[in-house]
Amino acid sequence: MSDKLSKKPTAHRKPLNKSTVNPGALTRLRAGIIGTGFIAPVHIEALKRLGVQVSAICGSTKGARALADKWGITEVYGEYDFRSMYRSPNIDVVHITSPNKVHVEQSIAALAAGKHVVCEKPLGMGTRETAQLLKAIQKAGSTCPVFAVNYMCRFFPAVLQMRAMVQRGELGKIIHVQGHFFQDWLLKETDYNWRLLASEGGKLRAVGDIGTHWIDAVSFILGARAEAVFATLETFHKTRVRPKGEVKTFAKVNPKDAAPYRVDTEDFASVLLKFGESEHGFANGVHANASVSQVAAGWKCSLYLGIYGTKASVQWDLQQPNEIIVGRRDEPNQILQRATAGFSEDVAGFTDYPGGHPEGFPDSHKMHYRAVYEHIASDRQTPVLFATAEDGHHEVKLCEAILKSNVKRAWVQL
Ligand SMILES: NC(=O)c1ccc[n+]([C@@H]2O[C@H](COP(=O)([O-])OP(=O)(O)OC[C@H]3O[C@@H](n4cnc5c(N)ncnc54)[C@H](O)[C@@H]3O)[C@@H](O)[C@H]2O)c1
Repeated sequence: MSDKLSKKPTAHRKPLNKSTVNPGALTRLRAGIIGTGFIAPVHIEALKRLGVQVSAICGSTKGARALADKWGITEVYGEYDFRSMYRSPNIDVVHITSPNKVHVEQSIAALAAGKHVVCEKPLGMGTRETAQLLKAIQKAGSTCPVFAVNYMCRFFPAVLQMRAMVQRGELGKIIHVQGHFFQDWLLKETDYNWRLLASEGGKLRAVGDIGTHWIDAVSFILGARAEAVFATLETFHKTRVRPKGEVKTFAKVNPKDAAPYRVDTEDFASVLLKFGESEHGFANGVHANASVSQVAAGWKCSLYLGIYGTKASVQWDLQQPNEIIVGRRDEPNQILQRATAGFSEDVAGFTDYPGGHPEGFPDSHKMHYRAVYEHIASDRQTPVLFATAEDGHHEVKLCEAILKSNVKRAWVQL
């Protein structure tokens, strides 16, 4: 990529890599984790890589004990007793990795106990409850601890790079965005997870679980929020079979120990979005279309997006996270690689390894938590690049609008 691109940080904000935070500051912060399933160890591992002390874990008694033993965590709170964990003086930040239906309750209680929070997405089951969280944050005002929602896709260097290119006007005026989030782990009727039940994960499953990652990432890149949606939802397996006990995400189920049940969440969504105005003026009123599926054979975790402007386009897929493709009409297309001259200086603070040494999903969590913890350690002096409670609430609002659009067969304005 040209030197012009690699040397210039975005004009209207400070270079993102110039952290003023003493690296040792993070080692003085201590975390407590709620949940012991698929994503909890991803949080723990990322925090340990940052030098943050993970001092407590809360979950089922068996699950919490097992993770505590594995990771050397000293305080263990069984029986999902998060309130006891919040009374510990050895926790500064709580990571909420429990199922969606308890996120808001656990978040409000954490803030009331004076703990900073990193909460998993989606923020809650509906806007009625996420609005309560916003209210609690507003009421606490400047004394409110820091709150982040784990839309960590923002912290892939490629996503930050595409955002910088849009903000600098290098793609021209953005016209439209297209993409998908595809997985196949729920393809068979015997595949089971609590997300399949609206009562456990929310009325929107594929969109709430992975579609909101796509919308949040696009929103972050464009610097604009989605304001209207038109959507079609489809449930291909109207009936599935489920095991009698709890199953960890992505775990296989033995059909012999399973019973049938009626599915009340979608396998697939086709969504049109209209974005609002952007701060920088290069992405105003952008059209987007996304397909979301958890039954797309062959795709494991493909968040793909293409951003199309009047001068050029960029494409990226989370399954090849280290590079983006720049498309031009009258010049050759280019592949820009992370940690090479193709990526600009202002995203250099979000990558730790040289080019050719791939970084991926675990690194995006690490970079996200680094940004949150640096914000805490600097007494909020660093930029807020992470998704806030308001961003999380907006995603839940979009989910409700998508549901409504599917029923009404019409555009729904937010
Ligand atoms: N950011 C991401 O990329 C990402 C990826 C996967 C999951 N997630 C989110 O993380 C959350 C957990 O997902 P998962 O895949 O790890 O699920 P999981 O089923 O594998 O694990 C959930 C854990 O929560 C525990 N739990 C259940 N009820 C609880 C309660 N009341 N209090 C405390 N713990 C409780 C369970 O025992 C289990 O250990 C979900 O909100 C999901 O959307 C985010």
